[in-house]
Order: sequence, then C-alpha cells, then structure tokens
Amino acid sequence: MIIAVDGPAASGKGTIARALARHYGLPHLDTGLLYRAVAMTVQRLELDATKEADAVAACDFDDSLLADPGLRSDAVGQLASVVSAHPLVRASLFQRQKRFAHQPGGAVLDGRDIGTVIAPEADAKLFVKATPQIRARRRHSELHAHGATISYDKVLADIRARDARDSGRAAAPLVQAPDSALLDTSFLTIDESVRRAIALVEARVAA
Ligand code: CDP
Ligand code: CDP
Repeated sequence: MIIAVDGPAASGKGTIARALARHYGLPHLDTGLLYRAVAMTVQRLELDATKEADAVAACDFDDSLLADPGLRSDAVGQLASVVSAHPLVRASLFQRQKRFAHQPGGAVLDGRDIGTVIAPEADAKLFVKATPQIRARRRHSELHAHGATISYDKVLADIRARDARDSGRAAAPLVQAPDSALLDTSFLTIDESVRRAIALVEARVAA
C-alpha cells in the first residue's frame, strides 16, 4: 500500500504521515528533507541556489546530512524552496523517492508532489491544509522550542513566500491531486487529525 501525503509548510502532513506509517506498519519518507539537504549543501559549499547547475551539484549530498538538526531551520526551508524549483534538481531526486514508494509492502511519503508526480498510482492520497496564520503559529512554536528566536511575523511572511514559490513554479507545483482527500487541520488537534487521516485512508482503500 502506497500512501501519499501532500500539503504546504506546517499543515501537519509530516505528523500525519508518521502516524499513518506507525498505524499500518509501513516505512515513511519525509521528502522535504531531501530538498532541505540540497539547500544546506548549497549553503555549505557557498553555491548559488538560484543557479540550476549549482543546485544540481548539491544533489550529491552525503546521506548523514539527513539527520542534521540544522535542516529544520527556517532559512534552510526557504532555500529548499528555491532549489526545488529547478527541474533538474527534482529529476535528480526522483528515482530515490520512486524506489522508496515501491518497496515491497509499500510506504508512506509526504511532500508537495507525491500524489501528482512521485506516486500518482498511490492507493490513498491526502492533501493536508491549514490557514497560513495557524501554520505560522505552529511553526513559530516549533522553532522556539528548538531555541530559535525568529518572530511570528517573520515566520508568517516566510510561509507565505514559500507557498507562493511552491505553488507558482512550473516543475511539479504544489497542487491538490484531483483524486486526493482533503484534510483541513486548522481546527483539529493532532489526535483528531490522525484519526481523520486514518478514516480517509480506510475509505479510499475500501473504495
Ligand atoms: O516541513 P515543511 O512543510 O516546512 O517543508 P518541507 O516539507 O521540509 O519542504 C521544504 C521545501 O522543499 C518546500 O517548501 C518545497 O519547496 C520543497 N519540497 C518539494 O518541492 N517537493 C517535495 N516533495 C517536498 C519538499
Ligand atoms: O510536515 P508539516 O510541515 O506539514 O507539518 P508538521 O511538522 O507535521 O506539523 C507542524 C507543527 O504543527 C508540529 O509541531 C505539529 O505538532 C503541529 N500540529 C498541530 O499543532 N496540530 C495539528 N493538527 C497538526 C500538527
């Protein structure tokens, strides 16, 4: 069983994908981490994220980077949305994600284009959303819990900028797959979000 979970920043897709993976005993891949690792490599090598050739060179990152706590920073998230707009960056990360989705038994993947590009054949697709203000509040508390001092207004502005870049790009834009189930987590607790997600997956698989 392949489960695709897509949505904008801090909508809750990662939390939901992890919970679904636990519930169904499936492996989980947070595909955003791959783009964040490319971004961090661009940063470390002092490359230019707006140049496709520079960003492609950074796709050859060391896998140990995927565990780096620095990947979660707001700055790396912003830079990730710059490198991820390059078609050759997306192409370079495609096979790895495709293979993960198609391992025996299946998998849960979360990102922006799982249901549309990486695994359009997924058995269940969720599109998770929440208002920009609620997402900014969540991301702000998360960043503060990890010691960052960024303001709520800056987090909100960055979330809006990232939404615009991710939805406006030509290559695999953030868009709800027509055959996905919509889950608005704005006014749901984590437990409620997970229960709804499981119910939506069950309904898809039964159909
Ligand atoms: O966790 P959050 O939603 O804040 O971000 P993320 O999932 O770690 O993704 C960081 C950035 O990577 C996004 O803003 C997208 O530009 C890009 N991304 C993408 O283009 N496609 C994916 N499947 C996942 C992430
Ligand atoms: O993966 P994505 O960036 O979409 O979001 P996440 O990392 O799953 O969730 C962002 C933050 O919102 C986390 O701190 C979650 O615990 C929190 N969250 C929440 O407060 N209420 C929900 N219904 C879902 C997530």
